[in-house]
Amino acid sequence: MIVVTGGAGFIGSEFVRQWLATESSELVNIDKLTYSGNLENLASVSGNSRHHFVQADIVEQSVIEQLLHERQPRAIVHFAAESHVDRSIHAPADFIQTNICGTFRLLEAVRAWRGTASREFRFVHISTDEVFGSLPLKAAQISEAAAYAPGNPYAASKAAADHLVRAYIRTYDLPAVIVHCCNNYGPFQFPEKLIPLMIARGLAGESMPIYGDGLHERDWLHVSDAARAIGLVLARGRIGESYNIAAGHACSNLQMVCMLCDLLDELRPQSPYRPHRQLITHVAERPGHDRRYALNADKIAQELGWRPQISLREGLRQTVEWYLGNQAWLENVVSGRYRQWIADNYGWRNIRS
Ligand code: NAD
Ligand code: DAU
Repeated sequence: MIVVTGGAGFIGSEFVRQWLATESSELVNIDKLTYSGNLENLASVSGNSRHHFVQADIVEQSVIEQLLHERQPRAIVHFAAESHVDRSIHAPADFIQTNICGTFRLLEAVRAWRGTASREFRFVHISTDEVFGSLPLKAAQISEAAAYAPGNPYAASKAAADHLVRAYIRTYDLPAVIVHCCNNYGPFQFPEKLIPLMIARGLAGESMPIYGDGLHERDWLHVSDAARAIGLVLARGRIGESYNIAAGHACSNLQMVCMLCDLLDELRPQSPYRPHRQLITHVAERPGHDRRYALNADKIAQELGWRPQISLREGLRQTVEWYLGNQAWLENVVSGRYRQWIADNYGWRNIRS
């Protein structure tokens, strides 16, 4: 039995789907179902008797503690977070509450319960390349030992959470491992993030807003490769260590959006909005916008044998096809109709199955 937090979100739900497909043990999925948590992301595993969904907030220590006592998990994989940089600029309070206080409460729940935990117990904390801050263009990729230099409220909240996990490893012997991941993309990503937002706007013939000059560089990893890496870290990562997870598929935002436009042109030959590149519009710069992230992922390659399997070209095509084939999902997410579905099906109480 393992516990996953945030398993109704983008990366968490991919991890849950992969886990249930490849492992034989049970999984308890704790998620608050914020705007980005969506049970539709878990529709393919809804009938799986090894998947137990619990609607709960990680800040509620007593609820989490009780759950750990009841379920006695052999691991926790902690995805739950407020995850979008723009929202953290607009309204940072939720980021402090969930990413910092929530991680703290989760760690305290584990500490209170651990007397009865098995010696095999592992805590895998999902962090981001953003904690290391912006790198100059062309500078070498950074290793896990790089100094922290977060540049926006989201990154700072994730850095604070990392520091708590590191402190619990040292002070309380928490058997934890941290992963720092680059930008993920793929199916089920909430359309506030660059790739699904541009696909959604391209489909609707709306302008595609590029912040500033668009020469900011991100490294793009398919979510299925990311989830596989996290599974390997859970299985064989060394306690107290951090692992970078990166694709080596870096490109500028402008290049990325041009690739998406070209795919939309090709896959929607009847679209009245072709060529989609005409929709690209430069808008104001994001405050505190980091110029470049670039992680070196040699450690996970050497120690755990992980390498990305999906090329950017193949992954982007598959992603655009997925959004084209799942426009109802996109509409529900944008319109908020899935929220009504959650309320109708489950109510707003805690759900246990
Ligand atoms: P997401 O926003 O899609 O999902 C977050 C999930 O956490 C949602 O299901 C949400 O309901 C849940 N959640 C939020 N607050 C909660 C709370 N207080 N209690 C319980 N559940 C709560 O995010 P994502 O993109 O899947 O990111 C998952 C994790 O990976 C985050 O920790 C994020 O910082 C990290 N990360 C993401 C990326 C990326 O590119 N998306 C890259 C590196 C690291
Ligand atoms: O790097 C890892 C991080 O990647 C994760 O930790 C975060 O959870 C995840 O949200 C993501 O953060 P970014 O800020 O990099 O993602 P986003 O998709 O918002 O933006 C990617 C780049 O595209 C960034 O340089 C800003 C730019 N952008 C984004 C949007 C939404 C635009 O130019 N226009 C846009 O409309």
